[in-house]
Amino acid sequence: MFKKSFLPLISVMLLLGCATNNPTTENTQHAGLGEIMSMTSMRHAKLWLAGQAQNWSLAAYEIDELREGFEDAAKYHPTHKNITTPIAQLIASTMDKPMSAVEKAVNTKNLTQFTEQFDKLTAACNACHQMTDFGFNVVIRPKINPFANQDFSVPH
Ligand code: HEC
Repeated sequence: MFKKSFLPLISVMLLLGCATNNPTTENTQHAGLGEIMSMTSMRHAKLWLAGQAQNWSLAAYEIDELREGFEDAAKYHPTHKNITTPIAQLIASTMDKPMSAVEKAVNTKNLTQFTEQFDKLTAACNACHQMTDFGFNVVIRPKINPFANQDFSVPH
């Protein structure tokens, strides 16, 4: 075993180890993919409600938030469970096109286009779920507005 005189030194080293390890641990704790997806689901619903209310600024904001969520998903979950294709690649192949199309409808304030492209976006969410053995999780157009504390209409 260690000589008695080494014990204080070892204690200090252990303390330093803890002190330097803690921030690292905190920094590597990120939302799980399922949690990011729950946020994505909420943004998806809010995007629909904003678009139907023709609150295009809010709709544009929700598109940005959806994008940030996908960026986090790709960054922090490069792979997931048994999925063999990289998450970033799956997101790019399913989301890039429909996200741009919805964004275009929002930028041109076109409700008909928005509704059509939103449904395509929803289909793309489901396409990725099918590709990731998660096809039992089906996303649809929101049937009701579950957000009791938010006014989606354009503020006057
Ligand atoms: C990378 C492909 C991919 C894309 C794109 C994707 N999802 Fe997911 N989604 C997943 C996977 C994988 C899970 C399961 C995560 C897990 O194991 O917890 C999931 C889970 C979910 C869940 C369940 C979350 C929960 O815990 O209840 C919802 C809701 C969801 N996604 C909605 C969406 C919506 C809405 C979109 C489109 C705007 C979308 N997803 C796009 C792959 C994807």
